[in-house]
Amino acid sequence: MDTCPANLALAAADTFGTSLRDDVLAGLAAVPRALPAKWFYDEQGSELFEAICATPEYYVTRTELAILREHLDAIASALPAGAVLIEPGSGAGTKTRLLIEACLPCAYVAIDISRSMLEIGAAGTARRFPSLQVLALHADYTRLDTLPDDRLPPGAPRVLYFPGSTIGNFTPEETRAFLCRVARWIGPGGSVLIGVDTRKDAAVLEAAYDDRQGVTARFNLNLLARLNAELGCTFDLSRFRHHARYDAQAGRVEMHLESLIDQQVEVAGVVHAFRRGETIHTESSYKYTPDGFRALAASGGYACRSTWTDAQGAFAIYHLMPDAAMAESRTDGSR
Ligand code: AVI
Repeated sequence: MDTCPANLALAAADTFGTSLRDDVLAGLAAVPRALPAKWFYDEQGSELFEAICATPEYYVTRTELAILREHLDAIASALPAGAVLIEPGSGAGTKTRLLIEACLPCAYVAIDISRSMLEIGAAGTARRFPSLQVLALHADYTRLDTLPDDRLPPGAPRVLYFPGSTIGNFTPEETRAFLCRVARWIGPGGSVLIGVDTRKDAAVLEAAYDDRQGVTARFNLNLLARLNAELGCTFDLSRFRHHARYDAQAGRVEMHLESLIDQQVEVAGVVHAFRRGETIHTESSYKYTPDGFRALAASGGYACRSTWTDAQGAFAIYHLMPDAAMAESRTDGSR
C-alpha cells in the first residue's frame, strides 16, 4: 500500500489452517473432483469477477444495487446508527459506499482472504470516509470464530453486511453454520443485512453463469492458471472447458471444468489422470425462494425483520436478527 490512511488499521487472524495446496490435493483426489470456490479470487480472478458483474447476463449485481438504491431510506432506518459495519469478502464497492453514506456507521471492518484485495479496498474506503474507523482484517472468514473485539469500538451495535449472494456459494448446511458463527461476531443487538439470489428460470440462470463474451469461462479456467502459477501444476487450459448447469432439484447453479480429452496432469507432485468428459466441480451457487431462505435463516437462529426485492423478485435483501435480539426489539416496541 502507498501510504496508509490515518483511519485505517490492519490486522490478521490465524484462520489459514488449510492452504491452497492442501485443498487442491484433497479436492482432486475426491470423487467427484471438486475445488473450493474461495480459491478463484487471486488478483486476476478478482478482476474477472468484477468483469462478470458488468456482463449483460449477470443480473445479480445490478439488480441488488437497484434494490439497495430504491429502498436505501428504509434500509438505513432499519439499521442502528453509529454501528460497526462488518463486511466479509472484499467490499468497498458501490453498494458498500451507498450503505456507509446512508447508515453512518462509526467503524467498518473489511475481512478478506486476499491480502492485496483487502488492502486496496479498505484503503479506498478509509480515504473516501476520513472520519470512519476502518479495520482491514486479513482472514479466511469461512473459518473465523470471533472478531478482534479489542480493536473495535466497545458497545456499538454490529451489523454484518453480506451482499452479492455470496452466501449462495455455501451449501445450506454451511450457510446455517456460518449464520451461527456470525451471531458470535455481532453479539447481542446485532443484525445481518444479506443479499440473496432467488430461484428462477434455468435459461436465465445458465446464461448468467455462461455469458456470451466468455468472461465467466475465463474466470473458471483462471483457477487452473492459478494452480499452474502457485503450485507448479501442468494444466493445459486449452484442454479444459467451462461448463455451467442449473440443478433445479437442488436449486443451485454448478460450475465445472470439463476435460476435453483423456489426459494426465501433474498436481503438486501427484499425477492425476482425467478422462474425456470428466469434470472438476469448482462452484455451486445456491438460489433460494424468499420463504426457503427465511426458513434456512430460522434454522440458524435468525428471524427475518424485513425483505426488500425488485419488481420481478429476481433478487432479495433480507434484514435478519438473531432470535433473542428480535424478541428484545419487539419488547422495545420497535419492528
Ligand atoms: C461471488 N459469487 C456470489 C458469485 C456467484 O454468483 O456465485 C461468483 C460467480 N461465479 C460465476 N459467476 C459469478
